[in-house]
Amino acid sequence: MPLWNGRFKTRLDPRALRFSSSLKFDRRLFREDIAGSIAHVAMLARKKIVSPSDAKTIQRGLRQISREIESGRLALDATQRFEGEDIHMAIEARLIQKIGDIGGKLHTARSRNDQIALDERLYLRGSIHTIIRLIAQLQKAIVIKADRYKDLIVPGYTHLQRAQPILLAHHLLSYISMLDRDRERFSDCMDRVNRSPLGAGALAGTSFPIDRKYAARKLGFGSLIENSIDAVSDRDVQIEFLCCCAITMMHLSRFAEVLIIWSSTEWNFAEIGDSYSTGSSIMPQKKNPDIAELVRGKTGRVYGDLIALLTIMKGLPLAYNRDMQEDKEPLFDAVDTLSGCLDIFASMLDGMKFKPVKFDQPGADLILATELADYLVTKGLPFRKAHSIVGRLVVFCIKKKRALKDISLKEYRQYSRRFDKDIFRFIDLRTSLLQKRSTGSTSPVEVGRAIRRWKSRLRIFR
Ligand code: ARG
Repeated sequence: MPLWNGRFKTRLDPRALRFSSSLKFDRRLFREDIAGSIAHVAMLARKKIVSPSDAKTIQRGLRQISREIESGRLALDATQRFEGEDIHMAIEARLIQKIGDIGGKLHTARSRNDQIALDERLYLRGSIHTIIRLIAQLQKAIVIKADRYKDLIVPGYTHLQRAQPILLAHHLLSYISMLDRDRERFSDCMDRVNRSPLGAGALAGTSFPIDRKYAARKLGFGSLIENSIDAVSDRDVQIEFLCCCAITMMHLSRFAEVLIIWSSTEWNFAEIGDSYSTGSSIMPQKKNPDIAELVRGKTGRVYGDLIALLTIMKGLPLAYNRDMQEDKEPLFDAVDTLSGCLDIFASMLDGMKFKPVKFDQPGADLILATELADYLVTKGLPFRKAHSIVGRLVVFCIKKKRALKDISLKEYRQYSRRFDKDIFRFIDLRTSLLQKRSTGSTSPVEVGRAIRRWKSRLRIFR
């Protein structure tokens, strides 16, 4: 019989139990559930709601159950049995089975509604720590690559059209900045996660003289969620966390996309290591960037997790509704997917090679057109005029298949009298980079500074 059998004349249909049981996924919360129960019973004893000896017996029983689950001795897949409704019932039923009626005192002044809200917050705290560590690991892998290739020049793109030359390192460091915002977002989220709902009861609070703050402190929470109705019905932090996951995945996906394009024969800027590529079962020459593609693909899945929970919560009346049980699978899925992607991405990047880009094909040095316009500005022309003059020059180069550096001064001067023989100095990739002087630009000085700063922030000493 289930623990709530008192009111019922017939048993729950086994199919209804199977349909409604969350044990197959919320069993993952057993550690958090037991930690919460141990703190709860400590509070009950302190407030003399249960005796110190009963509290000890209950806590001992809970610790044993934790070991039983950890070692696999207690199978938690008993969906046929009524205590199989969820992890909370399963643990409580096992406790009563082990220590007898005293076990039935654990649930005093508590409801599964505040219990699950608590478990999820404890779980999110752990997950956020893990994710922040994995983000840092990926940031390190990126800065190491940036440093290793700090002289390599690649075309920078806008609209996927060649725009201006940049340092590869500068491009790579931009992902570190994105990931750093992700880290900030997760740690902001942590401030709201780290508030205790325990003691809200089913929704109305309790008539027992509990001490919510004591239990919260024991569990390391920074504060309480005050309103008891809000405490049991809020899933904002879960949604916020999923949103942080979705944004991080979007960043990984954009990075993955660039690596996929760059490792194609057409681009040929990069090569993904053999250990992170797969072959084709039919085409012997193929080397496919599957890991990067899967990261890109899994991004859709994490967006789905976010949208699922937003949709589950939409229109729910206060306070707890069983719909909310559906929050767990998207949450766990996002944690697993994001952690897996962050981890594999760092390893894949570690094994990547970047190749020198050839800029000697016809039209390749047109990437320096902005330099010419800037040059004319330094000679006194308004930028708009300079832009239009160089535009006409570009048309000429494309039509005649000429490179900027092979045009004679005489020809240059047909476009503007302000061109002088020093112009040739500016038609050079490295000069273009060295000319950049704004903070955060792609100049080797700025990029070198950024590499050093990230290395020290991420504590890389090599
Ligand atoms: N398994 C439930 C969930 O995850 C726990 C809370 C159940 N509360 C209830 N009143 N049935 O949402």
